[in-house]
Amino acid sequence: MRGARRVEYGEGVARIAPSILSADFAALGDAIARVEAGGADLLHVDVMDGHFVPNLTLGPPVIEAIRKRARIPLDVHLMIEEPERWVETYVRAGADWVTVHLEACTHLQRTLAQIREAGARAGVALNPGTSPEGLRYVLDDLDLVLVMSVNPGFGGQTFIASAYQKIRDIRSLVGSRATEVSVDGGVKRDNAATLAQAGASVLVAGSAIFGSPDAAQAVRDLRSASEVAK
Ligand code: DX5
Ligand code: ZN
Repeated sequence: MRGARRVEYGEGVARIAPSILSADFAALGDAIARVEAGGADLLHVDVMDGHFVPNLTLGPPVIEAIRKRARIPLDVHLMIEEPERWVETYVRAGADWVTVHLEACTHLQRTLAQIREAGARAGVALNPGTSPEGLRYVLDDLDLVLVMSVNPGFGGQTFIASAYQKIRDIRSLVGSRATEVSVDGGVKRDNAATLAQAGASVLVAGSAIFGSPDAAQAVRDLRSASEVAK
């Protein structure tokens, strides 16, 4: 991952990816500066189309604006139908990582190849009810698996505990590959250590960071909570 040290699974350390969905959209530049000051590794950006999920957020022009402000890589989570129509646009706008939903891709391998050809790292997200088995034959085509631990669409939802076993199952599926396993939804200080121990290498957190009065400190707190797993 650009600008970040490589962490091995089992090391009990995870990178922190603040999700700007819970930030003040009228003050995004300030929100980005605060989490960067706290040592955030990636900026998680949630794109929703009002079809794949029952909410609408932002699109390529906002990503472009964020790219100009952010020094850390942009981890763009596409909660949209037909993501293959948009991949190049999001990479051009500044996405370093592009994650599409397994449930939204008819030709998953082709879409992952398209993301890499466009110059970004390729991720696949799985809704809570989706089995990781659908990844078995594309393991060499992807760089990241995003385990949704809430049904996507909104910040501030309750963590679904079956995500722990899903993270372990994905770790065993990817074997020795350098695949990142990221977890998104309801991630807080109290579950960070268990998630890192289960094999999560990236922790995405929205309300735990931007719902706190000091977002920089919240990033540091989440990191030290995950390191307890060592
Ligand atoms: C949910 C989004 C998440 C969201 C997480 O659909 O994909 O990235 O921001 O928010 P919290 O951390 O508040 O559950
Ligand atoms: Zn997300």
